[in-house]
Amino acid sequence: MAETEGVRRRDFINIAAVSAAGVAGVGIVIPLISQMSASADVLAASSTEIDISAIQPGQAIKAIFRKQPVFVRNLTPKEIEEADAVDTASLRDPQTLAERTKEGKENWLITMGVCTHLGCVPLGAGEGEIKGEFGGYFCPCHGSSYDTAARIRKGPAPKNLEVPEYEFTSDTVVQIG
Ligand code: FES
Repeated sequence: MAETEGVRRRDFINIAAVSAAGVAGVGIVIPLISQMSASADVLAASSTEIDISAIQPGQAIKAIFRKQPVFVRNLTPKEIEEADAVDTASLRDPQTLAERTKEGKENWLITMGVCTHLGCVPLGAGEGEIKGEFGGYFCPCHGSSYDTAARIRKGPAPKNLEVPEYEFTSDTVVQIG
């Protein structure tokens, strides 16, 4: 009799534990869904509009996109030539300049300003900053050099600087994200 009561008691405890877990499960799902929709809203709101009208050929600016630096660079004809002259088969992360820019706007090179090695901000977008031996960007943390298409050419970084989603909303405004 005492044992039967013991078994019943354990059954009751198990059932109680399961239903508590069930309730907790429901409790977890709801905030997760509301968090997901909140972050979708935040992401939509965090696209960045940039006026590019003042960026002369050979100049670049640093902007912020989703809390990270982004480089907007107006390439000179010479820089475009240098990028196009590279045999892509020789590249670590093979891509043409055309693949990294929009058709008819190959002079506008828009990339994240985040080194693909360990995430430092490369030099080369700011006035007077060194651009490294390939004329694009240079990461001072461990010496990665990027070319005029922001493709990795030397150093430990595995990938080209990332090109974010973007579109030209007019001739002088770019929306990133
Ligand atoms: S973080 Fe850029 S080279 Fe290491």
